[in-house]
Amino acid sequence: MNYEVQPATTLQGKIDLPADKSISHRSAMFAALHNGRSAITNFSEAADPHSTLDCLRRLGITIEEPGDNTVIVEGKGRDGLQTPSKDLDCGNSGTTMRLLSGIIAGSGVSARLTGDESLSARTMKRIIDPLTEMGAIIEAREADYAPLNINREGPVKPLYFPLPIASAQLKSCVLLAGLFGEDPTEVIETLPSRDHTERLLGLSIEEMDNKKVISASREDVIPEQSYRVPNDFSAAAFWLVAGAIHQDAEITLPAVGLNPTRTGALEILKQMDADITVANQQREGAEPIGDITIRSSSLKPVEITEEVVPNCIDEIPILAIAMLFTDGVSRISGAEELRHKETDRLHALAEMLEAAGADFEEFNDGLEIKGHTGFTPKPAVFDSYHDHRIAMSAAVLASMADDPSEIRDGECTAISYPGFWDDLQVLTN
Ligand code: S3P
Repeated sequence: MNYEVQPATTLQGKIDLPADKSISHRSAMFAALHNGRSAITNFSEAADPHSTLDCLRRLGITIEEPGDNTVIVEGKGRDGLQTPSKDLDCGNSGTTMRLLSGIIAGSGVSARLTGDESLSARTMKRIIDPLTEMGAIIEAREADYAPLNINREGPVKPLYFPLPIASAQLKSCVLLAGLFGEDPTEVIETLPSRDHTERLLGLSIEEMDNKKVISASREDVIPEQSYRVPNDFSAAAFWLVAGAIHQDAEITLPAVGLNPTRTGALEILKQMDADITVANQQREGAEPIGDITIRSSSLKPVEITEEVVPNCIDEIPILAIAMLFTDGVSRISGAEELRHKETDRLHALAEMLEAAGADFEEFNDGLEIKGHTGFTPKPAVFDSYHDHRIAMSAAVLASMADDPSEIRDGECTAISYPGFWDDLQVLTN
């Protein structure tokens, strides 16, 4: 369905963001592997983390949802998973498929993992290769793509694994399989990506020569996962940019996750001179949180280079929108990984910028964007490509136009942010 976006003259208010998607997935998976009950509060209502809950139920885990976004998981310990009688449907969720594959491969249950059209078009080679080295037997469509049939014969073989891609999904997948091995599996990380898996499992990390060695084995006790999931920084990013580029804006976002491996976009927006304040910084379980306020800003151009890409990978589409409203040339490079997300996000962005009449160039690994402080996008029918982050970026862009625009298949925002359209209304009224 097409969603209409009206030009916004003001953006004011306080928004209770959805819960963090990455942490919600992990809290449920790790609670299932813990020996005993976990009560997770503020669990994400979005579609992706619910794909994870459905898969865990099929693996024999009892999960209750008594209401108020609380999820009670009766963990059966790392050897308690059952071979499912039906496929594990991961929906649109790459995190579900990649992390669960690590757990399935490690645990030795046999399962078939499926996904929707978008997920079935995303390469799984990056996880198939290391899991196969660890002893898993994986059959995939055309060798690389879901559905994945996963089995294992014999014990988990420990792996020494320098990460070939800065991907938290890949890192987590290998560590989760490693949790089932007698000897430690070691993952070597040179470019930091989100570290929720390491934090929530309390894995051992050795830092040396600008790299981290993270290890996991059967010796690691899987802790209870009873905590409040922080609000999602990746959802916050849409309002941080919307607030910065609008003339009459002040938006407050309470209790947002501020894990430094996630907040690259906050640092980038600060470099762009965005008027951002962070208050009430505290800890929520293993994760830092705080309240963020953004006000109308005069933004400067910026460069996003390879080293910081993993810390703002999901925020690059909305940061590209911010770049349009600066006086000068901004660049994004080393971001080829965006071509392997829910859609090819560099291509989707290029189409969006073209439709809006922006001055830009697309490269294989990024974009160069020539901004103007007074830029007014052309109203258009923007294609979401069924990608939640592309839809929300287009909505923020369209709110700066002089006439209404439409976002094609705007309901896909529910993948990570079910209340997005309502919150946009709340801020503009
Ligand atoms: C995620 C990691 C990122 C991110 C995705 C969620 C996670 O993917 O894009 O939305 O929860 O681990 P990669 O680590 O593959 O880049």
